[in-house]
Amino acid sequence: MGTAADRLYHIRKFFKMLRTGRKAPDDYDWQFYSDIYREGLDGIARDHTLILREGDYAFDGEHLSLQRDIKPLHPNYHITYETLLQLSPESILEGGCGGGDHLHNLHVLNPRFRLHGVDVSDGQVALLRKRHPDLPAWVEPRDLTAEPGSIELPRVEAAFTQAVIMHIRENHRNALANLFSAATRWFVLVENWKRHDFLADIRYLHREGRIPWKELHVQYRESSLLKIPLAMVVSAEPLPRYPVLTDYRILRDVIAGI
Ligand SMILES: C[S@@+](CC[C@H](N)C(=O)[O-])C[C@H]1O[C@@H](n2cnc3c(N)ncnc32)[C@H](O)[C@@H]1O
Repeated sequence: MGTAADRLYHIRKFFKMLRTGRKAPDDYDWQFYSDIYREGLDGIARDHTLILREGDYAFDGEHLSLQRDIKPLHPNYHITYETLLQLSPESILEGGCGGGDHLHNLHVLNPRFRLHGVDVSDGQVALLRKRHPDLPAWVEPRDLTAEPGSIELPRVEAAFTQAVIMHIRENHRNALANLFSAATRWFVLVENWKRHDFLADIRYLHREGRIPWKELHVQYRESSLLKIPLAMVVSAEPLPRYPVLTDYRILRDVIAGI
């Protein structure tokens, strides 16, 4: 039957389809997505802490570990933050930043990060501003599937996405290319690896000259909580601390909790 937010979402989506004669190309119509996203967050919050306070977690240079008697971070969020803390970029861009919890949490974990976020949905950007009114981050609406070069993005050392590209059905390669063009050194992805062949897509974009990096190195990271490979770490230089992703099945065949 679905919740009230779910029903409203489907009604709005249906009437838009009648009006425009076109189905939303992605998993969701992002224009109406915020209410169901908020409900999704409430679901995650039953077992996990979404918004960190200073001192909840500590990073010792290698591991991000819980310091208080609170619910732990979701494993996908944990590996995203831990990887970025290990790489220690000066500046970070989150693609599809949603309600802004990751940007907030990254600021709490390392206030020196210069943070940026973009999201296609005005509703999601509005939600972020409401959830984190004092977030010290540059956040703007942007459609990452736009033709590369046609949108302005900040230049950063690292880009990351968490459960974003997996939901994009039309022009998801543009989204990858745009984020690679914004990042000078690293791109961390935590996605559902079955939705696209991310490794083939990234290699294709590099071969076609659509990733402006001389070299492309694709590594992965295992979640220290789940003990399974969860994150892809793409870099412009070799990253010996992480294993090389020699075979896409290493990520794809894992039952991930996204
Ligand atoms: C499942 S939510 C994940 C949000 C956030 N990364 C998180 O982990 O909570 C997917 C997000 O991607 C955004 N998104 C989808 N397509 C996009 C696009 N073409 N450009 C930028 N953001 C996009 C949506 O608006 C939504 O906020």
